Amino acid sequence: MNCELDIPSRVIIGADTRARVAQEIGFLEWSRVLIVSDPFHEKAGRISEIAQLLSKADIEVSTCTSVDGEPDTEMVRCGFQQFQADKCDGIVALGGGSVIDTAKTISVLARNEGTIENLMGIDNVARQGAGVIALPTTSGTGSEASKVVVITDSQSQVKMTGRSRAYVPSIAILDYKLTMSMPKSLTAAVGIDALTHAIEAYVSRQASDFTDLLALSAVKLIWSSMRQAWHNSTDEDARQNMLIGSFRAGIAFSNASVGLVHSMSEPIGACFHVPHGLSNAMLLPAVTKFSVDGTPSRYAAIARCMDLADGSTPDEECCRTLVNELHQLGRELEIPSPKSFGIDKTSYEEHIEKMANDAAVAGSTSNNPVIPTFDQIKDIYCDTYDT
Ligand SMILES: NC(=O)c1ccc[n+]([C@@H]2O[C@H](COP(=O)([O-])OP(=O)(O)OC[C@H]3O[C@@H](n4cnc5c(N)ncnc54)[C@H](O)[C@@H]3O)[C@@H](O)[C@H]2O)c1
Ligand SMILES: [Fe+2]
Repeated sequence: MNCELDIPSRVIIGADTRARVAQEIGFLEWSRVLIVSDPFHEKAGRISEIAQLLSKADIEVSTCTSVDGEPDTEMVRCGFQQFQADKCDGIVALGGGSVIDTAKTISVLARNEGTIENLMGIDNVARQGAGVIALPTTSGTGSEASKVVVITDSQSQVKMTGRSRAYVPSIAILDYKLTMSMPKSLTAAVGIDALTHAIEAYVSRQASDFTDLLALSAVKLIWSSMRQAWHNSTDEDARQNMLIGSFRAGIAFSNASVGLVHSMSEPIGACFHVPHGLSNAMLLPAVTKFSVDGTPSRYAAIARCMDLADGSTPDEECCRTLVNELHQLGRELEIPSPKSFGIDKTSYEEHIEKMANDAAVAGSTSNNPVIPTFDQIKDIYCDTYDT
């Protein structure tokens, strides 16, 4: 078997482990760090908490809290200028996927020639970055584990993806206490994003034994805790399971690829400003229904791992149950359709041609179990509008 795996070199898991950040920076011998975060965490006092920990350990701190949405080239440039001006030598990312992707891109820019655009695409980074310690706060994207970044071009509004081992964070600190402030709607959207990573990695044409193990264990953890985390935001076991599940799913998809849900979700996000997790959640049931025929045994294994069926249930029945349960999950967690999100029907229909074009050429489409025709992609977009 030939296989290449890119994973963070150190992972720390547990309640209040954010307090370990100073010790970890000491080991890396950074003397001045840039904390990248967002306005929510600044207001919540979490940046000052981390900054104080670092100051006590004689580590100088500079903070950049301008990641106020999904990241674009302007936000990255702004953070990079600060990193250089303040002569930083490492980065602490405290936030969701938007913050972590911004930090990973600043880190890579700091040690490589070229523009942000040059460093996007697959394996276009020559040298490792300055280094990032990632503290995820959303339990969704798995960016703290992945070699992927998603950055929007501020001018064209096109979402660019970078995929290189240089984007893998040096250290991930999984402190579930940081995720407990998430409101219900965010818990639902990012949780289904993580579930989608696990499912798409398991059925991907690039899956390996190693990614299978992580993908299935992530499905199990996320499925068993998702509703609990949503209904009771203070359930610490459920929050911890969701964070560990999304981390495992992050390693799995980062090394095995995502599939058609993600290819079709990015254009909805770009055209209608739907957050990443939500547009995935809108599409997951319909795309799963479309894709099951490509690998019924793998989708059946997912259903069995969720305890929706046992070994005696035929694969086809497992697949039907899985699709129904994904629809049910979306309804229970109040995931809106594009229509109930407020997207105008005429505008949606006018964009279908362009969205389908973008989805057809996206890299992950070719890793989906069934490779769709252009018309099939358009049909899925149509069917998803009001369901
Ligand atoms: N790099 C990857 O591997 C990867 C994978 C999937 C998605 N992404 C990207 O990640 C971005 C989305 O990240 P996300 O879904 O984590 O959301 P996000 O980082 O955009 O955060 C969404 C909102 O939630 C707030 N928030 C974050 N943590 C919170 C908490 N604990 N309590 C309350 N509010 C909190 C943020 O301030 C923000 O307003 C997109 O740009 C997407 O393309 C990256
Ligand atoms: Fe995702």
